[in-house]
Amino acid sequence: MVDNKQIVISPSILSADFTRLGEELQAVQAAGADWIHVDVMDGHFVPNITIGPMIVEAVKRACDLPLDVHLMISDPDRYLEAFHAAGADILTVHPEATYHLHRTLTRIRELGMKSGAALNPSTGPEAVEHVMAELDVVMVMMVNPGFGGQSFIPTMLPKIRRLRDMIDRSTYKVLIEVDGGVSPANARDLVEHGADVFVAGSAVFGHPPYDKVIAELRDGKQR
Ligand code: DX5
Ligand code: ZN
Repeated sequence: MVDNKQIVISPSILSADFTRLGEELQAVQAAGADWIHVDVMDGHFVPNITIGPMIVEAVKRACDLPLDVHLMISDPDRYLEAFHAAGADILTVHPEATYHLHRTLTRIRELGMKSGAALNPSTGPEAVEHVMAELDVVMVMMVNPGFGGQSFIPTMLPKIRRLRDMIDRSTYKVLIEVDGGVSPANARDLVEHGADVFVAGSAVFGHPPYDKVIAELRDGKQR
Protein backbone atom coordinates (compact mmCIF):
# COMPACT_ATOMS: atom_id res chain seq x y z
CA MET A 1 0.00 0.00 0.00
CA VAL A 2 2.61 2.51 1.09
CA ASP A 3 5.23 2.56 -1.63
CA ASN A 4 7.80 5.07 -2.71
CA LYS A 5 5.32 7.32 -4.41
CA GLN A 6 6.09 10.99 -4.04
CA ILE A 7 3.47 12.84 -2.05
CA VAL A 8 2.39 16.05 -3.72
CA ILE A 9 2.61 19.01 -1.33
CA SER A 10 0.18 21.88 -1.88
CA PRO A 11 0.71 24.66 0.69
CA SER A 12 -2.46 26.66 1.35
CA ILE A 13 -1.84 30.39 1.17
CA LEU A 14 -4.74 30.98 3.55
CA SER A 15 -2.14 30.95 6.34
CA ALA A 16 0.48 32.99 4.47
CA ASP A 17 1.46 36.54 5.38
CA PHE A 18 -0.56 38.47 2.81
CA THR A 19 1.55 41.60 3.27
CA ARG A 20 4.40 39.55 1.77
CA LEU A 21 2.52 37.12 -0.43
CA GLY A 22 5.00 37.18 -3.32
CA GLU A 23 7.90 36.38 -1.00
CA GLU A 24 5.92 33.62 0.72
CA LEU A 25 5.14 32.01 -2.63
CA GLN A 26 8.76 32.19 -3.73
CA ALA A 27 9.86 30.70 -0.41
CA VAL A 28 7.57 27.64 -0.59
CA GLN A 29 8.43 27.14 -4.23
CA ALA A 30 12.17 27.18 -3.40
CA ALA A 31 11.45 24.80 -0.50
CA GLY A 32 10.06 22.14 -2.83
CA ALA A 33 6.29 22.69 -2.84
CA ASP A 34 4.58 21.04 -5.83
CA TRP A 35 1.33 23.01 -6.11
CA ILE A 36 -0.09 26.16 -4.52
CA HIS A 37 -3.48 25.75 -2.85
CA VAL A 38 -5.81 28.74 -3.03
CA ASP A 39 -8.94 28.73 -0.86
CA VAL A 40 -11.83 30.65 -2.37
CA MET A 41 -14.69 31.28 0.09
CA ASP A 42 -17.89 33.22 -0.54
CA GLY A 43 -19.45 33.78 2.89
CA HIS A 44 -22.42 31.67 1.76
CA PHE A 45 -21.34 28.08 1.18
CA VAL A 46 -18.89 28.59 4.05
CA PRO A 47 -18.96 31.29 6.74
CA ASN A 48 -15.70 32.95 5.71
CA ILE A 49 -14.89 35.24 2.75
CA THR A 50 -11.41 35.09 1.23
CA ILE A 51 -9.96 35.28 -2.24
CA GLY A 52 -11.35 35.99 -5.71
CA PRO A 53 -9.98 35.70 -9.25
CA MET A 54 -8.00 38.94 -8.91
CA ILE A 55 -5.73 37.49 -6.21
CA VAL A 56 -5.47 34.18 -8.08
CA GLU A 57 -4.19 36.13 -11.07
CA ALA A 58 -1.57 37.83 -8.84
CA VAL A 59 -0.52 34.47 -7.35
CA LYS A 60 -0.11 33.13 -10.88
CA ARG A 61 2.35 35.91 -11.68
CA ALA A 62 4.26 35.47 -8.41
CA CYS A 63 5.25 31.79 -8.79
CA ASP A 64 5.66 29.03 -11.36
CA LEU A 65 3.78 26.23 -9.60
CA PRO A 66 0.41 24.81 -10.69
CA LEU A 67 -2.45 26.60 -8.93
CA ASP A 68 -4.74 24.25 -7.04
CA VAL A 69 -7.86 26.37 -6.61
CA HIS A 70 -10.44 25.14 -4.09
CA LEU A 71 -13.83 26.74 -4.65
CA MET A 72 -15.87 26.82 -1.44
CA ILE A 73 -18.63 28.77 -3.11
CA SER A 74 -22.30 28.19 -3.89
CA ASP A 75 -23.15 27.59 -7.54
CA PRO A 76 -19.52 27.38 -8.70
CA ASP A 77 -20.58 27.03 -12.37
CA ARG A 78 -20.88 30.82 -12.52
CA TYR A 79 -17.15 31.26 -11.91
CA LEU A 80 -15.37 28.46 -13.80
CA GLU A 81 -14.36 30.72 -16.69
CA ALA A 82 -13.18 33.50 -14.36
CA PHE A 83 -10.88 31.22 -12.38
CA HIS A 84 -9.60 29.65 -15.56
CA ALA A 85 -8.79 33.09 -16.95
CA ALA A 86 -7.07 33.96 -13.65
CA GLY A 87 -4.71 31.00 -14.05
CA ALA A 88 -6.18 28.05 -12.14
CA ASP A 89 -4.64 24.74 -13.22
CA ILE A 90 -6.67 22.44 -10.99
CA LEU A 91 -10.19 23.62 -10.17
CA THR A 92 -12.04 21.87 -7.35
CA VAL A 93 -15.71 22.29 -6.54
CA HIS A 94 -17.92 20.88 -3.80
CA PRO A 95 -20.64 18.44 -4.94
CA GLU A 96 -22.76 19.89 -2.12
CA ALA A 97 -22.63 23.28 -3.86
CA THR A 98 -23.59 22.29 -7.41
CA TYR A 99 -26.69 20.51 -8.71
CA HIS A 100 -25.01 18.87 -11.68
CA LEU A 101 -21.55 17.72 -10.67
CA HIS A 102 -20.98 15.75 -13.88
CA ARG A 103 -21.65 18.81 -16.00
CA THR A 104 -19.46 21.01 -13.80
CA LEU A 105 -16.50 18.62 -13.94
CA THR A 106 -16.89 18.19 -17.69
CA ARG A 107 -16.87 21.95 -18.15
CA ILE A 108 -13.73 22.34 -16.02
CA ARG A 109 -11.92 19.88 -18.28
CA GLU A 110 -13.29 21.47 -21.42
CA LEU A 111 -11.69 24.70 -20.28
CA GLY A 112 -8.35 22.87 -20.08
CA MET A 113 -8.03 22.50 -16.32
CA LYS A 114 -7.78 19.42 -14.10
CA SER A 115 -11.06 18.76 -12.34
CA GLY A 116 -11.56 18.21 -8.63
CA ALA A 117 -14.41 17.38 -6.26
CA ALA A 118 -14.12 18.15 -2.53
CA LEU A 119 -16.17 16.16 -0.03
CA ASN A 120 -17.42 17.77 3.17
CA PRO A 121 -17.05 15.61 6.28
CA SER A 122 -20.68 14.44 6.02
CA THR A 123 -20.45 13.58 2.29
CA GLY A 124 -19.61 9.99 1.43
CA PRO A 125 -17.33 8.57 -1.28
CA GLU A 126 -20.40 7.56 -3.31
CA ALA A 127 -20.83 11.25 -4.21
CA VAL A 128 -18.04 10.81 -6.78
CA GLU A 129 -18.47 7.12 -7.62
CA HIS A 130 -20.30 7.78 -10.88
CA VAL A 131 -18.18 10.72 -12.05
CA MET A 132 -14.77 9.09 -11.77
CA ALA A 133 -14.31 9.32 -15.52
CA GLU A 134 -14.57 13.11 -15.31
CA LEU A 135 -12.40 13.50 -12.23
CA ASP A 136 -8.68 14.15 -11.77
CA VAL A 137 -8.65 14.82 -8.03
CA VAL A 138 -10.96 13.91 -5.16
CA MET A 139 -10.40 16.03 -2.08
CA VAL A 140 -11.28 14.69 1.34
CA MET A 141 -12.02 17.51 3.74
CA MET A 142 -10.51 16.55 7.08
CA VAL A 143 -12.28 19.56 8.69
CA ASN A 144 -15.47 21.48 8.01
CA PRO A 145 -14.39 23.94 5.33
CA GLY A 146 -14.16 27.64 6.11
CA PHE A 147 -11.07 28.26 8.19
CA GLY A 148 -7.41 27.36 8.42
CA GLY A 149 -5.85 26.03 11.59
CA GLN A 150 -8.64 23.63 12.60
CA SER A 151 -8.03 20.18 14.06
CA PHE A 152 -8.15 17.14 11.86
CA ILE A 153 -11.28 14.93 12.30
CA PRO A 154 -9.85 11.40 12.64
CA THR A 155 -13.11 9.69 11.66
CA MET A 156 -12.46 10.95 8.10
CA LEU A 157 -9.57 8.48 7.70
CA PRO A 158 -11.78 5.52 6.65
CA LYS A 159 -13.22 7.67 3.87
CA ILE A 160 -9.73 8.06 2.39
CA ARG A 161 -9.35 4.28 2.45
CA ARG A 162 -12.75 3.76 0.81
CA LEU A 163 -11.81 6.14 -1.98
CA ARG A 164 -8.39 4.48 -2.37
CA ASP A 165 -10.09 1.10 -2.82
CA MET A 166 -12.65 2.55 -5.21
CA ILE A 167 -9.92 4.13 -7.36
CA ASP A 168 -7.58 1.15 -7.25
CA ARG A 169 -10.39 -1.15 -8.39
CA SER A 170 -11.16 1.16 -11.30
CA THR A 171 -9.19 2.07 -14.40
CA TYR A 172 -9.16 5.75 -13.46
CA LYS A 173 -6.14 7.66 -12.20
CA VAL A 174 -7.78 9.94 -9.68
CA LEU A 175 -5.54 11.55 -7.05
CA ILE A 176 -6.71 11.67 -3.44
CA GLU A 177 -6.03 15.05 -1.86
CA VAL A 178 -6.52 15.67 1.86
CA ASP A 179 -7.28 19.15 3.18
CA GLY A 180 -7.55 20.47 6.73
CA GLY A 181 -5.41 19.92 9.80
CA VAL A 182 -2.65 18.14 7.86
CA SER A 183 0.67 18.19 9.74
CA PRO A 184 3.83 16.10 10.12
CA ALA A 185 2.11 14.47 13.12
CA ASN A 186 -0.62 12.85 11.00
CA ALA A 187 1.13 12.68 7.61
CA ARG A 188 2.07 9.02 7.94
CA ASP A 189 -1.46 8.01 8.87
CA LEU A 190 -2.85 9.89 5.89
CA VAL A 191 -0.47 8.21 3.45
CA GLU A 192 -1.16 4.80 4.92
CA HIS A 193 -4.86 5.35 4.34
CA GLY A 194 -4.14 6.21 0.70
CA ALA A 195 -3.63 9.96 0.31
CA ASP A 196 -1.61 11.24 -2.67
CA VAL A 197 -1.71 15.02 -2.13
CA PHE A 198 -1.40 17.05 1.07
CA VAL A 199 -2.84 20.51 1.48
CA ALA A 200 -1.18 22.21 4.45
CA GLY A 201 -1.70 25.80 5.52
CA SER A 202 -0.97 26.48 9.16
CA ALA A 203 1.56 23.63 9.35
CA VAL A 204 3.69 25.36 6.70
CA PHE A 205 3.23 29.12 6.67
CA GLY A 206 4.63 30.83 9.74
CA HIS A 207 6.89 27.84 10.39
CA PRO A 208 10.12 28.48 8.52
CA PRO A 209 12.36 27.07 7.27
CA TYR A 210 9.81 25.79 4.78
CA ASP A 211 12.09 23.14 3.32
CA LYS A 212 12.22 21.49 6.76
CA VAL A 213 8.45 21.34 7.27
CA ILE A 214 7.85 20.18 3.69
CA ALA A 215 10.40 17.40 4.21
CA GLU A 216 8.67 16.47 7.48
CA LEU A 217 5.33 16.24 5.69
CA ARG A 218 6.88 14.02 3.01
CA ASP A 219 8.51 11.81 5.66
CA GLY A 220 5.03 10.57 6.40
CA LYS A 221 5.48 8.18 3.52
CA GLN A 222 8.33 6.34 5.26
CA ARG A 223 7.69 3.48 7.60
C1 DX5 B 1 -10.21 24.94 4.92
C2 DX5 B 1 -9.39 25.12 3.69
C3 DX5 B 1 -8.04 24.60 3.85
C4 DX5 B 1 -7.20 25.33 4.84
C5 DX5 B 1 -6.26 24.35 5.45
O1 DX5 B 1 -11.53 25.29 4.67
O2 DX5 B 1 -9.99 24.45 2.60
O3 DX5 B 1 -7.35 24.52 2.60
O4 DX5 B 1 -6.45 26.38 4.29
O5 DX5 B 1 -5.61 24.95 6.49
P1 DX5 B 1 -4.88 24.10 7.61
O6 DX5 B 1 -3.84 23.30 6.94
O7 DX5 B 1 -4.35 25.14 8.52
O8 DX5 B 1 -5.94 23.24 8.27
ZN1 ZN C 1 -8.69 24.15 0.79
